[in-house]
Amino acid sequence: MEAKAATDDGAVGPDRTVIEMKGIHKSFGGVPVLRDVDFEVKAGEVHALAGGNGAGKSTLMKILQGVYSKDSGEIFVDGKATTIDSFQSAKAAGIGMVFQEFSLVPTLTVAQNISLTVEPRTKLGLINDRAARDRAREILGGMGVDINPNAEVRSLSTAYWQLTEIAKALVQDARVLIMDEPSASLAKHEVETLFELIERLKARGIAIIYISHRMDEVYRIADRITILRDGRRLLTKPLDEVTPEQIVEGIVGKQVEGELVYQAREHTSDEVLLEAHDLTVGTHLQGASFTLRKGEIIGLAGLMGSGRTELAQALFGVDRIESGKLLLNGAPLTLASPKDAIDAGIVLVPEDRRAQGLVLEHSVRENLLLPILDDVKLRGFVDPRLGQKKTQALIEQFGVKVQDPGKPVNRLSGGNQQKVVIAKWLGTSPQVLILDEPTAGVDIGTKTEIVGMIRELADAGVGVIVISSEYPELLAVSDRILIMRRGAIVKNLAREDIPDEEALQLMVLGG
Ligand SMILES: Nc1ncnc2c1ncn2[C@@H]1O[C@H](COP(=O)(O)OP(=O)(O)OP(=O)(O)O)[C@@H](O)[C@H]1O
Ligand SMILES: [Mg+2]
Repeated sequence: MEAKAATDDGAVGPDRTVIEMKGIHKSFGGVPVLRDVDFEVKAGEVHALAGGNGAGKSTLMKILQGVYSKDSGEIFVDGKATTIDSFQSAKAAGIGMVFQEFSLVPTLTVAQNISLTVEPRTKLGLINDRAARDRAREILGGMGVDINPNAEVRSLSTAYWQLTEIAKALVQDARVLIMDEPSASLAKHEVETLFELIERLKARGIAIIYISHRMDEVYRIADRITILRDGRRLLTKPLDEVTPEQIVEGIVGKQVEGELVYQAREHTSDEVLLEAHDLTVGTHLQGASFTLRKGEIIGLAGLMGSGRTELAQALFGVDRIESGKLLLNGAPLTLASPKDAIDAGIVLVPEDRRAQGLVLEHSVRENLLLPILDDVKLRGFVDPRLGQKKTQALIEQFGVKVQDPGKPVNRLSGGNQQKVVIAKWLGTSPQVLILDEPTAGVDIGTKTEIVGMIRELADAGVGVIVISSEYPELLAVSDRILIMRRGAIVKNLAREDIPDEEALQLMVLGG
């Protein structure tokens, strides 16, 4: 009802509806993913699109972007029925998208990527690198971010990819900007930069569709919210007309605790599990020392580039430790490769799941079984029944939404891919578990489950290291928090000594 009223007003003026999608249906392989979905966005509005993992958010937006074709339904641009069946037609309609799965070319520079579809050409028709660079500087400067336009994208961390994606959409003069989990890989202060940017875009009358699993952000930035559940539109309302509880319940489908709360844990053991002395790797990790006890959860906080990911990679044998010492259960440990780490019982759930965590063309089952092949083998061959049983158990334990585990993992929604990575590594029963941004992209219900799961593992004696840019999550899950700055651990605090999120943020920023 409310949605109807909302579409009836404001046909002209600043409140005019720029995009209207009506009665959208979409199935994949006969399975409906979107059912009769209506959605609209107005000029100068931030419209949040929310819903659980696999609810259909990205699919709806990919239809608007001409990546997928709808089975039925209509799209109106400025009130006119418009066919959007390709990337070009979407662009012509002024629709730009920041993809959840990045669309950048890793081997090109930031400037080249930003100008990829609007390349300034020289008179001979070649890409004009100088012009591309100037344009990139201007756009990035306007966004208030500091990235070297000449850097190759592959050399940058995920957060910079994200910012480059946004710059790329902006340079195309989009009137509607779709942001699919733009903050998933951003640190707190970078999110602030993004929000300031969004405010500026709003003031210019740009319509913004914002997909996020972070409710605090939705409240901060959005004017209206639409919730999808299992491919259906549940509601569309101005944010001041819904409570946080209603939103969470709408997304998850049942009443749950939306807030993560810290519960002090008794860790039963004083036994030291892992000891790091003066670990140094290149310039990113410089003399990091810490101890991890059995059953303890350590949170790593720090800005992008502070060395958190590098520390995780060193502990997993990805980056060669140049100097310093590592002891596991009191015995010296040398890691030449991730295989050494896995054999020693150390596993890493990486930040960049698409590049490092999954073989995307392989099936969900193959991905899940990869690290535990020996457990499902009979006389040297994978036993299909055993494999299927183990796969099913992991899928159920982690609530992965998948129709057929025999199909490629890249057909899953973003959050469900993340669950597969976590399930895959937890299936190995590690001694030390390192999680880099474990809940990036997972929905609220699952987030609470993952935090619970981490606690259970620690209760069972696993030593856990969690890297997270989400401070509420870090504060909820950690027994101790290490703060990293410029490759070193500069603070080592018991959880009880950090009163709240603001305090943590100040410490991270250098207070
Ligand atoms: N190319 C595809 N082939 C088959 N199924 C697909 C394809 N793309 C998406 N799906 C399915 O469509 C459903 C909706 O996926 P979608 O990516 O739209 O979810 P989402 O709401 O964006 O979730 P998330 O929050 O995890 O990103 C999922 O069940 C997914 O497996
Ligand atoms: Mg998605």
